[in-house]
Amino acid sequence: MYFRRFPSLIQTSNFLISKRFAWHSRNVVSSVTWRGKRNFSQSKTIFEEEKNQKNQPKKFAGPITWSSVGLLFVSGAIALGYFSYLKKKRDEQYQKTVESVGKANIGGPFELIDHTGKKVTNDDYRGKFLFIYFGFTHCPDICPIELQKMAQALNKLGKTADLIQPLFISVDPERDTIEKIAKYVKEFHPKIIGLTGTPEQISKVAKAYRVYYSVTPGTKDQDEYLLDHSIILYLMDPEGNFLKFYGKNETVDSLTKNIQQQIKNYLSR
Ligand code: NI
Repeated sequence: MYFRRFPSLIQTSNFLISKRFAWHSRNVVSSVTWRGKRNFSQSKTIFEEEKNQKNQPKKFAGPITWSSVGLLFVSGAIALGYFSYLKKKRDEQYQKTVESVGKANIGGPFELIDHTGKKVTNDDYRGKFLFIYFGFTHCPDICPIELQKMAQALNKLGKTADLIQPLFISVDPERDTIEKIAKYVKEFHPKIIGLTGTPEQISKVAKAYRVYYSVTPGTKDQDEYLLDHSIILYLMDPEGNFLKFYGKNETVDSLTKNIQQQIKNYLSR
């Protein structure tokens, strides 16, 4: 209907259209004028113009366009950037909190029993950087993952690892016997020394390192009860002073690099 009516529309506005043609395509106008079939040819030309427009691929057709894909990427990148910014902020805040607590306030003297049954104190490890993790042998996932990371970092550190004494301190003295921790630490790395003690000794060392642990609610009456506990790796200098802590988001690579740097900084003091 629209196209049928179009020629008459052109006839009534002949002047305007020929003006438009003169503007857009002088060649068409001149050939049309020469043939003396002005109206018909003009309408035909308009027809073709319309047709051509219809056949042309539309630039912004459909729900998925390059600009929408681009927009998605950009907004995705912004969101990702924002989240990692928040995470970094939170980590920095945690670091600041720990640092404001004071280096002297993390760590301290302890008396425990090692996995060979020998009584030990913090003085037995003087002269070595301590790499400490608190956990329990019944832990189903987190502790094995963290100890695996500890072991892999030690291997990656190569010669530097000779300066380090890795320690695993149990927060489950009721169940973690000397034999149990001896078997447990061997599963991860030959260098790791397992430490346990009386509940009072464990409570004291955990407090010194600001490590939290408590029976997971609802698991207390079961044989295989679980413990909630802080998941932190500590690096102490050879005099027993706090150097750095590492959360569970740390990778083996970042752990290795940072320990290397911490030791390098310490030795160049
Ligand atoms: Ni655990």
